[in-house]
Amino acid sequence: MGDKRVLIVGSGGREHAIGIALAASPEVGSIAFAGGENAGLSAIATSLPADAAETADPADYDLVVVGPEAPLVDGLADRLRAKGLTVFGPSAAAAQLEGSKAFTKRVAERYGIPTARAVICETRDEAMAAIADFGAPVVVKADGLAAGKGVTVAETVDEATAAVTSAFEGAFGSAGHRVVIEEKLTGPEVSLFALCDGETIRPLATARDYKRAYDGDLGPNTGGMGAVSPAPGVSDALVEEAMATIARPAIDGLRAEGAPYNGVLYAGLMLTADGPKLIEFNVRFGDPEAQVILNKLGPRTYSALYATATGTLADADLSLSDGVCVGVVAAAQNYPAGSAKGEPMSGLDAMAAMDVSVMHAGTRSVDGAVHANGGRVLAVVGRGPTAEAARQKVYSALNALDWPGGRWRNDIAAPD
Ligand code: AMP
Ligand code: GLY
Repeated sequence: MGDKRVLIVGSGGREHAIGIALAASPEVGSIAFAGGENAGLSAIATSLPADAAETADPADYDLVVVGPEAPLVDGLADRLRAKGLTVFGPSAAAAQLEGSKAFTKRVAERYGIPTARAVICETRDEAMAAIADFGAPVVVKADGLAAGKGVTVAETVDEATAAVTSAFEGAFGSAGHRVVIEEKLTGPEVSLFALCDGETIRPLATARDYKRAYDGDLGPNTGGMGAVSPAPGVSDALVEEAMATIARPAIDGLRAEGAPYNGVLYAGLMLTADGPKLIEFNVRFGDPEAQVILNKLGPRTYSALYATATGTLADADLSLSDGVCVGVVAAAQNYPAGSAKGEPMSGLDAMAAMDVSVMHAGTRSVDGAVHANGGRVLAVVGRGPTAEAARQKVYSALNALDWPGGRWRNDIAAPD
């Protein structure tokens, strides 16, 4: 065990995955996290109040890792860097890549990045004119952060009209006072994660996220019900093409404009008949994609994140463990509409002994017992030589979970 002290900002499933990977890194001596409850994370890290990041002292931490997008868009990384802390996570200026879909569309236009044809609309009338011009199907996106709920893929003009109306009526607060209307693309979706130290950008991993609530990609969109890494069917050549045409031009362009990017860049891509196209950028690890990717980065996580934060990424070891990693989310029965509060869960120790990693998202420790405390509650992660081997491990472990209030998809990483 080393002596490095790390502060993680956030307390969800992604942050537990970051914590587990940091705890496995030989440099790390202690971990703290700020901003919420998580029974799994509190077992390996000190739980601090939400304002512990804002008040952090450079003498207390060797590295601060910011998990979620909201504090990044709000400038937390800038404030911490100004105090002298070493931070993994982009500035507010660079985080606009996630904070404003219109910003990203303009970046894509300036640097010739392939993406859906789009119109940025400041008023409802402009949006209605754009919808009339595009015709259905058409995609309506609230400009700002909307907790994953700001996008409507409308099959009819009526559906698109309703989405525009609700955005301008304030359904997403100020995030919906500007909308992007864009053409619907088709093809498999893939997530590409790249690390960027302000100068150097390197691909880290690909993943596929399962966004719909139910088997067969049915039901409402969720934050993600499972993930597999690497994404099936994505070649190294395709990763290189997406780096060359999408990720690198965006990062090089922002640097030239005075907004160097520092952290993980998550590019949501659609593999269309005309090649990979950008759907969106996010400025943080995905959840539950982090759970599978960091499982493969393992003990190299601290050195990789530290190198990213300090401008030395060119020399970092970003090698991933062999095999395929699968993660399945156990959620409350009524997620995404609702959540579970105060339901005791058992079987977790038996699961942890089964060659899987049990990562907590919405859980709470109550008198030594673990209670469900959220919509997405756990992610069970397993690795194997094939996707089938990995998913077998995960689903066998889920059989040992005793939580009547929980449910999960049974087709994560199954052949299509
Ligand atoms: P976003 O929040 O931008 O990731 O959008 C959420 C989801 O909407 C994406 O993961 C896609 O499945 C879908 N989506 C977004 N933009 C488009 C598009 N232009 N064409 C088709 N589907 C889209
Ligand atoms: N799993 C999708 C996301 O983190 O945005």
